[in-house]
Amino acid sequence: MPRVYVDELSRHVGEEVTLCGWLYNRRSSGKIHFLQLRDGTGICQCVATLNDLGAEAFAAADHLGQETSLEVTGVVREDKRAPGGYELTARSYRTIGVSTDYPITPKEHGVAFLLDLRHLWIRSARQNAILRIRSEVEQACRDFFYERGFVLFDSPILTPTSCEGTTNLFEVDYFGERKAYLTQSGQLYAEAGALAFGKVYCFGPTFRAEKSKTRRHLTEFWMVEPEVAFFDLEDDMKLAEEFVSYIVARVLDRRREELKRLERDTAPLERAASTPYPRLSYDEAVERLRAKGFAVNWGDDFGGDEETALSSEFDRPVMVHRYPTQCKAFYMKQDPARPEVALCVDMLAPEGHGEIIGGGQREDDYETLRRKIVSNGLPLEPFNWYLDLRRYGTVPHAGFGMGIERCVGWITGTHHVRETIPFPRMMERLEP
Ligand code: 4AD
Ligand code: MG
Repeated sequence: MPRVYVDELSRHVGEEVTLCGWLYNRRSSGKIHFLQLRDGTGICQCVATLNDLGAEAFAAADHLGQETSLEVTGVVREDKRAPGGYELTARSYRTIGVSTDYPITPKEHGVAFLLDLRHLWIRSARQNAILRIRSEVEQACRDFFYERGFVLFDSPILTPTSCEGTTNLFEVDYFGERKAYLTQSGQLYAEAGALAFGKVYCFGPTFRAEKSKTRRHLTEFWMVEPEVAFFDLEDDMKLAEEFVSYIVARVLDRRREELKRLERDTAPLERAASTPYPRLSYDEAVERLRAKGFAVNWGDDFGGDEETALSSEFDRPVMVHRYPTQCKAFYMKQDPARPEVALCVDMLAPEGHGEIIGGGQREDDYETLRRKIVSNGLPLEPFNWYLDLRRYGTVPHAGFGMGIERCVGWITGTHHVRETIPFPRMMERLEP
């Protein structure tokens, strides 16, 4: 029999086919067994009767353990009442691998328990939907840049320096001779790429030894970072809103089923699928926050609560630009009109999901950048190559980084980013 996947059943109505998967759930009315078979693309109810299966197989089917792997052959029927709209009238089945006492049952479990069993938890319907949307988001990122002529420029993971502050660096012993660090961002290398190729992006895992145990922080997360030569802050914000709206539109277009399974209200996503997004200066943001009762000092960075309060005033992602220079990284270009602010932007997602993008225009003047490295307490020597980019044909350039988990967390409406990556890494979690 031809082997098909559950998400292909609509093309095989009336035909006899074979499904391969795992037993998700099972119930029986005595005369009929209903076997729910999961194959990763969906769940299909297989209806098994004594008549079709024969006495021995029928009796055995009543004892199959959850997550037993099976091959089921039968005829595809359209049935509006069935979960996916189709079911299989089973003619025969074969057990591939038994499963007894599967630890995750359909009842409610605590998150710590489920995280310990993450390698199995990813089989459940909700996790499947979130991670499938993650895959769609990542594909959309790649397609967006590819369609626009960007070159994928892979940046290194082992690096000799920090680029996003020295307080959350992961140190690696490098042959007992020196220290290396796991990269916090591919940006500095992407800048070299932009000056070589015009427009590039890097996309890979990044690391922060974050001691903050918030619902938005991981110690290992994936970041996609475009970088463009002859680009200013304005160009950068335009690229960021086009990028995010493209991703949202793609998920709405291709992952409706998964959004439905997650019971995600799609109205806010529909709005975010079109541009422009509102823009707000840091100064205006401070005023709005004060009006809401927050005691913010000009110069402070915003925390999660402030970000949530700000984004709640808008019905789509908001771009906050020109933060105080003092609270941003050394590479940010200062606004020539107002050196106390940087030409930077953070995009805040709606519905309390916080900052999904950070970026801006880079300092392109050799002397200024050199001074900033020193005044930030960083050693000059490892930044020599980075300074070369300002020695040999410097140009205005800009870019940004989007955290995949924060973006997926927002799109899927997932409270904590730990469910948006297959195997989350956090301060207190390195396993499985
Ligand atoms: O704002 P960040 O620190 O910016 C940079 O790293 C720049 N070098 C990017 C660039 O301009 N090329 O981080 C960018 C994004 C954040 O907006 C957030 O979405 C995500 O990365 N992010 C995290 N996601 C999960 N866990 C963490 N600990 C994160 N830290 C940052
Ligand atoms: Mg940031």
